[in-house]
Amino acid sequence: MLSRRAAQLPPSSTAALDAHAKQLAAEGVDVINLTSGELAFPTPREASDGGITAITDGRTRYTAVAGIPPLRQAVAERLTRAWRAPYAGEEIIITNGAKQALANAFVALLDPGDEVIIQAPYWVSFPHMVTLAGGTPVILPTGPGTGFKMTPRAVAERITPRTKVLLVNSPSNPTGVVYDRRELAALAEVALGAGLTIVSDEVYGDLVYQEGLFAATASLGPEVRAATVTVGGLSKTFAMTGWRVGYAAGPKPVISAMAALQGHTTSAASTISQHAALAVLLDEPAAELDARRAELDGRRRALCAGLAGLPGLRLDVEPLGAFFAFAEVSGTYGLAWQGETIRSAADFARHLLSAARVAVVPGADFGAPDHVRISYVDSPQVIGEALARIRAFLTEAARANVGAARH
Ligand SMILES: Cc1ncc(COP(=O)(O)O)c(C=O)c1O
Repeated sequence: MLSRRAAQLPPSSTAALDAHAKQLAAEGVDVINLTSGELAFPTPREASDGGITAITDGRTRYTAVAGIPPLRQAVAERLTRAWRAPYAGEEIIITNGAKQALANAFVALLDPGDEVIIQAPYWVSFPHMVTLAGGTPVILPTGPGTGFKMTPRAVAERITPRTKVLLVNSPSNPTGVVYDRRELAALAEVALGAGLTIVSDEVYGDLVYQEGLFAATASLGPEVRAATVTVGGLSKTFAMTGWRVGYAAGPKPVISAMAALQGHTTSAASTISQHAALAVLLDEPAAELDARRAELDGRRRALCAGLAGLPGLRLDVEPLGAFFAFAEVSGTYGLAWQGETIRSAADFARHLLSAARVAVVPGADFGAPDHVRISYVDSPQVIGEALARIRAFLTEAARANVGAARH
């Protein structure tokens, strides 16, 4: 009954793991869930009040497909002011999360067989979104040697007559790596030289822990801006994952095509959520975001320092954005746990969950089978407890191995 496209589509592995950890917690198991892709902070009061007022005032009908004009304007002004990416309101479409913006951008840009260069490690959904849009993902592997970044040369080597899009995700999920302005400009030069469009997923752009490091692709100049579709959202910046508000900013023909697509599929994002988004963009004092970022930075430092002292785990690059650390775990391979030898990051994650009740995401679905992604959205106490559990697990497994070797 299923189409080939649907039959080939696996469920999201990160969502499945998160669901498993949550189910264990609901059963009363004391699980520490470090798989999360969302902040643990509450949604800002300004957003909630904006949403409630929209309901009580009866602003509950369809809006224009591309979103309410003041929200499009507020997003444009924020991109212009905060990220030096000058956009006008009509160059913005409001979407049902950054996810929909990405999925629709690929449909708007790709003809069947068009190639999209995607670096690995990648966010799980990128290749599937491209395939669903009829395109072909071309995976560019990166590693610690380049700080998990694409080099202009590696990009140039993958360009074929079918290449249409270069996908950039900075800060990156899952590595937390951030391209600086110079690196981004070098990639953009190659992309523009080959006539490519850049899809720049900047959903974590507000969560960067080194002053001045983040650069929006569209801030690199008018030519780059004209060849770029910028994707962002409120989920990560404002702890609003469940409200489902994202956006794309780009050349008007692309935004119009995305609006047509959205009009025939899902219509506009939730009216109530759009008003919540507008309220938080206009009314939340900048100090609140600064405080969330500072708090996350403390958690990031705690996790990275703790990971550095764990045998068998290696953090090749310091994550400077988003809220993930991406640890290499091949140093644990060969350890046996309850008769089963750890041979992959998936084995490591499975044993860690059952033995230490700590959930992390194995990297295979990010294109990195020897890594695990560890979120640092939780409190320093929770992170400390998780690190202690991981250490105890590794110590116990190593002791059991020595014991087994002696027998
Ligand atoms: C790299 C990246 N892009 C986009 C999204 C989508 O965010 P949302 O649809 O909640 O705005 C996520 C969420 O995890 C992400 O990690």
